[in-house]
Amino acid sequence: MSWQIEGFLETRNGHLTIDGVDAVELAKRFGSPLFVYSEARIRRNIERLKLVGDAIGCGFKLSYAAKAMSTLGILRAVKDADCDIEVNSGGELWKALKAGFNGSQINFNGTSKEAWEIDLAIENDIYAIQADSLFELSLIDEAARRLGKRANVSLRLVPEIASDTHSGLQTALLTSKFGMMPEEAYRAVAEFADSPYVNICGVHLHIGSQNPDPSVYVSAFETLFASLLRIFNETGQSLEHINLGGGFPVKYLAADSLVPDEKQRAMLAAVYEPADAIGPAWDAVRRAAKAADAEHLLDGITLLLEPGRSIIADAGVCLTTVRNAKSRPTDDGGEDHWILTDAGFNILLSMETYKWYYRLISAERADAPHDAPYKAAGPLCDGGDVYFDIEGEGRLPDHRLLPKGVEPGETLALLNCGAYSLAQASQYNARFLPAVVLIGRDGEPTLIRRRDTFKDLVSADL
Ligand SMILES: Cc1ncc(COP(=O)(O)O)c(C=O)c1O
Repeated sequence: MSWQIEGFLETRNGHLTIDGVDAVELAKRFGSPLFVYSEARIRRNIERLKLVGDAIGCGFKLSYAAKAMSTLGILRAVKDADCDIEVNSGGELWKALKAGFNGSQINFNGTSKEAWEIDLAIENDIYAIQADSLFELSLIDEAARRLGKRANVSLRLVPEIASDTHSGLQTALLTSKFGMMPEEAYRAVAEFADSPYVNICGVHLHIGSQNPDPSVYVSAFETLFASLLRIFNETGQSLEHINLGGGFPVKYLAADSLVPDEKQRAMLAAVYEPADAIGPAWDAVRRAAKAADAEHLLDGITLLLEPGRSIIADAGVCLTTVRNAKSRPTDDGGEDHWILTDAGFNILLSMETYKWYYRLISAERADAPHDAPYKAAGPLCDGGDVYFDIEGEGRLPDHRLLPKGVEPGETLALLNCGAYSLAQASQYNARFLPAVVLIGRDGEPTLIRRRDTFKDLVSADL
C-alpha cells in the first residue's frame, strides 16, 4: 500500500494501525469522527526540521506554527520535543503559556493585534512581536511605554515573491494582506534605533504554505539579506534574527491519485527535505555577504523557521464512519455509489475552501484492493460538503477508490489530516466537535480532547 509508513501507518489483520494501535478499535472506543495523532511522528518531523540548523551552521530556532493545530496536548508534545512556538493571536499566546512555553520561546505574528494582545506579549517578554505595519509598531511602542518595558520587535516584510501554491496560501505578494514595504522597514529601524521601549531585532517573511518549489527560499533569503545590509548601511544597526516563516510541503497525493488538475497535483504531491532547500540557499547568502564585505552581519545571527504543516499534518489521521449509502444513475447509463460519512467540511474546512485532497482509505479493510469508485460526501446540510470538486474544475477527483461493497458502519480513514483541520473546525449544523487522541511515545492512546456534548453546543449562548 503506497500510504504505508513503517512503524507508523501499517496494517494488522486487515485493519489500519497507527503506531501499532488498531484504528478501528480507537474509533469504537472514542467515537467517530476522531482525530488520532502520533507523538512519535511529531517528534520525527521536528527532528527532520532541526537538520536545517545543522545545514546552516549558525544560530537556529525552530518554532511550531500553532495555528496549524493548537489543542493543548499537541502543544505540550511539541514543547517536549524541544521546539519553540509561533502564535497569531492573544488566544494562541495564552494557550502557548498554558501549555508551558515561556516568553523567550514564543514569537507572535498576526495582522490586527488588539492592545490587550500586545500587552500580554510584552508582559511575558516574548522573543519577538512581528509588526505588520508602521501603525502596529506605534501601538507596540505605546504599550511598552505604558508597561515600562522594552518590546522585542521584528518587522514583517512583503517581498513580492510568488509561490506555486494555492492563491489563498500566498502571503508574500504585494496583493496579499501581510507585512510592510522594505522602505517602511528601513524608516522604522532608523526611527527606533535608540528607543528604550522598542528593540527592533529581526526581519520576517513567510512566502506561503505548501510551497512546491524549494527555490522560493533562495529569493526569500536574498530579500532578507538585502534588508539586513540596507538597514546596516543606512542606520548602522545589525539585527539579531531573520525569520523565514514556514511553508514546507507535505505529500498529500499518492502517485495513483485521480486528481485531474495538473497544477493542483504538483502542489499536493510536492516533497523535498527542508535541510536540502535551506542549506544551499543559506550558502548563497554567505556568498552574497562575502561579496558585499558584510560577513559580520551574519555573525551571531539566528535563523528562525516557523513551520506548522510539516510538523503536524502527516502526524494526524481523521477516522470517520460511513453513515449512509445510496445509488444513483449517471448520465452515461451507469450508476454512482454514494457514501456519506460523519466527517465533513466542518472539521476539514480546506477540503471546501482550497479543494484540499486528503487520501481516503478503508481502516477496516486497509489491505484490500481499493479499486471501486464511490462518490463521497460529508454529513452537513450544505451541497458543498462533498469530497469532490462540485464546480467540476478537476481540483479533486470525482470519485474515491475504496474496496468493493462499502456499507454504512464501515470505518474509513482520511490521511494527513493533522494540520489546519480541527484548528479551523466549527460547530456548523450544531455538529459536535470530535475527540482527539494522542498516541504517546509509549504507544498508549490518550484522550487529549473530549468530544463535544450538548452543553458545548450552547455553552456561550445567553
Ligand atoms: C507567518 C506564518 N508563519 C508560519 C506559517 C506556517 O506555515 P506552514 O504551516 O505552511 O508551515 C504560516 C501559515 O501560513 C504563517 O502565516
